[in-house]
Amino acid sequence: MAGRIPRQFIDDLIARTDIVDLIDSRVKLKKKGKDYRARCPFHNGNNDSSFSVSADKQFYHCFNCGASGNALSFVMEYDGIEFVDAVETLAEQLSIEVPREDIGNGKTVVNNYVDRKDLYQLMAEITIFYQQQLRSHKNSEKVINYLKGRGLSGETVKYFKIGYAPDGWDELRKRFALTAQLEKQLIDIGMLIAKDKTGSYDRFRDRLMFPIHDRRGRVIGFGGRVLDNQEPKYLNSPETPIFHKGKELYGLYQVKQTHKEIQRILVVEGYMDVVALEQFAINYAVASLGTSTSSDHIQTLFRHSSEIICCFDGDKAGRNAAWRALENALPYIQDGRTLRFMFLPDGEDPDSLIQKQGKQAFEQLIAEALPLSDFLFQQLLSKVDMSTSDSKSKLAQLAIPLLEQLPESVFRQMMDEKLINLLGIEKEGLKKLLPRSQEQNKNKIKQKATPMRLAISVLLQHPNVAFDLPLFPEFQEMNLPGLPLLNSLLEICRNSPNITTGQLLEHWRDAPEYKQLQTLAIWENNIDDDNYEAFFLDTLENFLNLHLQYKIEYLKQKARTGNALTSEETQQLAALLVEQKQH
Ligand code: UTP
Ligand code: MN
Repeated sequence: MAGRIPRQFIDDLIARTDIVDLIDSRVKLKKKGKDYRARCPFHNGNNDSSFSVSADKQFYHCFNCGASGNALSFVMEYDGIEFVDAVETLAEQLSIEVPREDIGNGKTVVNNYVDRKDLYQLMAEITIFYQQQLRSHKNSEKVINYLKGRGLSGETVKYFKIGYAPDGWDELRKRFALTAQLEKQLIDIGMLIAKDKTGSYDRFRDRLMFPIHDRRGRVIGFGGRVLDNQEPKYLNSPETPIFHKGKELYGLYQVKQTHKEIQRILVVEGYMDVVALEQFAINYAVASLGTSTSSDHIQTLFRHSSEIICCFDGDKAGRNAAWRALENALPYIQDGRTLRFMFLPDGEDPDSLIQKQGKQAFEQLIAEALPLSDFLFQQLLSKVDMSTSDSKSKLAQLAIPLLEQLPESVFRQMMDEKLINLLGIEKEGLKKLLPRSQEQNKNKIKQKATPMRLAISVLLQHPNVAFDLPLFPEFQEMNLPGLPLLNSLLEICRNSPNITTGQLLEHWRDAPEYKQLQTLAIWENNIDDDNYEAFFLDTLENFLNLHLQYKIEYLKQKARTGNALTSEETQQLAALLVEQKQH
């Protein structure tokens, strides 16, 4: 089994990678003062310098969309890959091998583990095997007739690397599971199913196979369709170490290959829809894999294009699915991004429709897709009866929580105005309607500058302030919000000269506090570069004083309530009072 990558190795990897070189090899950076700037690769904006990379901090940050992180985060986000793959990418650049901890005895062994690279390699070989079977299997004619019947050309089939999983229980197994280790790997990637006692059998049998590529073009899973009316119609790869359904989009890799700049992306439901649309030269469609459009999907989509059109069935289920997609998308609708909703005639899907009506008619429907604003208000108005007296307050109640999820933007203002018009109230009136949620919203955007937050942000931004600092045992006893976090940060910085923001944050990547720390790492705390050290030490001192006062207060209180102090406590109180005078 693959062991954990040792913490120390990840620390070293980040320390040895220069984030400026790393990012510059993917996004051209321009030097500006101490930092480097570029157009942000994580959102579609036209500000050429909202994205800033700091060599000192080994950290990047976009002032517009808020994306931020260290070298590993950048590779994960930019290449659309997972943590372990990002570690391997950085290690490869440095020509070093990724070690694994041998679970159990705690020893570190280099590469004595099932390499994920092997898993991708296996998937690639299986893809070719299925493609060959499509041409050479005894059922070949049946399969090819099926494809023809669905109007697909040989070219399209090749383009998507569609193949055929032969019938029989061990066609794949007997070719690929040549050793016990290979059999285990094939089970891990979902291509074989383990039997109760021993052995295994092919998961996909007598099915048309659609390989699912990740954004780098590696095959990570399959969808397999029956060739007749059996159930289930589609069988998909299960969750595996390399395949996570909720995040992937079928066809995105192909769209990226075709377009240098993707003008728009059409989101449809099925594999066949993507394939049929491509055959009709609508080469910008992707499908979510049998799940509804999640906020992960929305973020991925907007990273690749500023115009997204989601296509749904025209029936009630389709409208509901569209509404869920809308709710997931609201936080990501910045200026310059558009999201529209397209509803198909009853009983049709994109595949059937384009086969019947052709490209032009289909693109006409895309052009007529409803803008988000229209769909949102249309749905809301269908839920309230505008002739009744409380209709307006009901509308406000439904609309305001939704509009509040939109980021501040011209679009948001326009939506507010639409609502104001519908409600027939003054501009100020909207603010008064739900003052509480307005306030909450502001709090989210602007952090309150508590001493603890300020101290943590200074430490994150200038980890050197804590190098060689003494231990403060008092901090272990105190019960201040945020103090445990400050303690852990201090513990690391105290012993690490020249640790950078990027390295420091890495320790929390999987912790619940990560988001909060990320925010504080880029927070403009208005403490000048000349002052932060003094400020930081003052703040720590204030915490210590707080502790002193608390202890004094505790002992005094105890004496006042008639509990006699022990002689030890009396001595302690006297000492504390002396100490207090000194401050
Ligand atoms: P549909 O039932 O609409 O199928 O499922 P389809 O895409 O139109 O396929 P054809 O035209 O009948 O061949 C839409 C999507 O839902 C998922 C698949 O991702 C499919 O593409 N699905 C559907 C499954 O995962 N399993 C199923 O059994 C059915
Ligand atoms: Mn279909």
